Amino acid sequence: MALPDSFLDELVARNDIVDVVSDYVSLTKRSGNNLFGLCPFHSEKTPSFSVSSEKQIYHCFGCGKGGGVINFIMEIENLPFMDAVSFLAKRAGMQVPDNDTPETVRNRRARLLELNRDAAKFFYSNFKKPWGQPAIEYLNKRQISFEMVKRFGLGVAPNEWNSLTDEMLKKGYTQSELVDGGLSKRGRNGGLYDTFRNRLIFPVIDVRGSVIGFSGRILDDGEPKYLNSPDTPVFQKSRNLFGLNLAKRTKRGMLILVEGNVDVVSLHQAGFDCAVASLGTALTPEQARLMSRYTQNVVICYDNDGAGQKAAQRAIGIFEKTGITVKVLRISDAKDPDEYIKKFGGERFSLLLEKSENHVEYRLLSLKSKYNLENDDERIEFLHEATEMLATLPSAIERDIYGAKVAEYAGVSKEAVALEVRRNIRKSIATQKKKQEKRDMSPHLTVQPADKSIRYENVQSAVAEEGVIRILMRDPEFVNQVSLSEEDFTSPFLGKVYGIIRQRFLEGDSVSSAVVTAQLKPEEASQLTLILQRPISTSNVERELSDYINRINDEKLKASSGGDLLAARERLLRKKGLGD
Ligand code: UTP
Ligand code: MN
Repeated sequence: MALPDSFLDELVARNDIVDVVSDYVSLTKRSGNNLFGLCPFHSEKTPSFSVSSEKQIYHCFGCGKGGGVINFIMEIENLPFMDAVSFLAKRAGMQVPDNDTPETVRNRRARLLELNRDAAKFFYSNFKKPWGQPAIEYLNKRQISFEMVKRFGLGVAPNEWNSLTDEMLKKGYTQSELVDGGLSKRGRNGGLYDTFRNRLIFPVIDVRGSVIGFSGRILDDGEPKYLNSPDTPVFQKSRNLFGLNLAKRTKRGMLILVEGNVDVVSLHQAGFDCAVASLGTALTPEQARLMSRYTQNVVICYDNDGAGQKAAQRAIGIFEKTGITVKVLRISDAKDPDEYIKKFGGERFSLLLEKSENHVEYRLLSLKSKYNLENDDERIEFLHEATEMLATLPSAIERDIYGAKVAEYAGVSKEAVALEVRRNIRKSIATQKKKQEKRDMSPHLTVQPADKSIRYENVQSAVAEEGVIRILMRDPEFVNQVSLSEEDFTSPFLGKVYGIIRQRFLEGDSVSSAVVTAQLKPEEASQLTLILQRPISTSNVERELSDYINRINDEKLKASSGGDLLAARERLLRKKGLGD
C-alpha cells in the first residue's frame, strides 16, 4: 500500500490544515502562532483545540489528540489511512497514483463486503437444511423467535470443517479473500477450514447496512463461548456496535447498551428496539462517539455481576467525555437483561428503565452499598468518599441535590455535607495548582506520554530524545550532525520517529509534520504533536542539539554500567588508551 512520498507531500501541501479543520471546527481564537477552537473529539466549553498553520499540525490540550491533516481526517471522518488519503485527494482535485491506489483498495473492500453478504446468506440458508436442526433447537431453548432470526439475519455454521469455505470458493472467491475476510483459516497442511463451526451466527451489520463481520455463539458448551471475526479491512471491532443498524431507527430517543448479543436480540424481541452491544470488548471512545451521532441519551444495562458493574463505571467515564447523558439500569434477580426479560417480562423491564439511575445516583448507591452506615467509622468513611465525588460535579445544582441525598443516607445535616463538599473543591483546586507549578518547574515530569503503550522507560534520556526530534522536525538539515542510530533511543517510539525523519531527509523527501505523523499510530501522532508544541529553548540550536546528544550517550553508558557513570567513562577511556 505504498504511495510515493512526492504524492503525499503534494497532498499535504494542497490541503492546508487550517482550511481543512475549518470545515469542521470554527477557529475563533488566536494565541501566538496558533488558532484555537472547541475540540471536536471531546466535549468542552472553552477552546483547547489548537491548530498551527506554521507546523501544519493540530493538538488538543484537553484530550491530547493530535496529528497532521491526514490524521485529522482519519479521526473525524472515521476513515482508514488510504480512505483519508483519497478523501483529501478529492478535496484538492488530485488523482491518487495508480499502483495499489484507493481504487484497488476500494475494490478489495467491496469484494470483502460482498463475500460477507454471501456468507451471511449461506449461514441463514442453513436453518432450512437438516444440519440446521441443532440451531433451531437452540433458538427454541433460548426463546428466540424466527421473526428475530429474520430481523437480525441470524444464521447457522454447521458442525463441519469446510462447509462455508467450499461454498464461497465455488462462488469464485479466492482463498486469500476468505482468509483476509476472517471467514477461513489456513491449516497446517496449507488447506483452508471454516473459522465458525457449530455456532449460531450473528452478522455484524454497520449503519450503512453492510455485513462487516460475524459473531458466533457455540451451540453446545464448547470453547470459546463466543467467537468474533478478527479485525479485517472492513471490520474494526472497536468502531462498531452490534445492533446499531436496527437501533439507529428507534423512536425511543435513547440507546440501551448491553454486554451480549443475545441480550440485544432479547430486548428487541421484547420491543426495546434501541439495544446495542459492543463486540466482546469494553466500550471504546470510538463506539461512544458513534452512538452520540444517533442519540444524546444512553442507558447502560450490563450484567449483574462485579465485572459488569466495573465495566459500567468505566463506560460512564467514556460517555461523559462525549456529552451524552448516561443512566444506569440495574437488574436484580437475574444475571443479565436477557435472563431478566425471560423471567419477568418486558413490562417489568420497562419499569426498571424508567427508574434507571443517572450516573451520580448510580455512583452514590454503589458507594453506599460498600459501607455499613450503622457504624460510625464507616459512615465517616462514606461521607468522605461521597463528598469527594460530589466535589467533582461541575454543576452547583447537582451538588446541592445529591448533597441532600448523601446527608439523608448518612443521617447528618445538609449543611455539614455542603461545607465538606466546598472544602474538597478548594482542596482539589489547590492540589491542581501545586501540580501545575511543579510541572512548570520541572519539565521532565510532563514528558511521560498519556498512552501507556509508548511510556518512556528512561525519562532523562527521553527528554533529550524528544529535544533531538523537535529540532530535526524544524531543521532537518541537522540530521547530518546527529550521529545516533535508532537503537540509541531508549524510547522505541522516538527511535521510530527519528528513523522516519532520517530516512525522509536522506532520500530528499520533505520532513513535514503532516507527512511524518501520518506514518504513526494515532497515540504516537498525538504524542509527537505534543512534543512539537514545546519551544526550542535556546537560541543556539546547535549547542542545544549537542547537549541532547551527549545526554543520550551518557544515559546509555549509565544503563550499560549499572548506573555508575564515572566508572563507565573511565572504563571507556582506559579501553581507548589500550588501543582496543
Ligand atoms: P456473556 O458471556 O455475558 O454473553 O458475554 P451472553 O450473551 O450473556 O451469553 P449467553 O449466550 O447468554 O450465554 C458477553 C459478550 O462478550 C463477548 C460476546 O460478545 C458476548 O456477547 N464474549 C463472551 C466473547 O467475545 N467471547 C467469549 O468467550 C465470551
Ligand atoms: Mn446471557
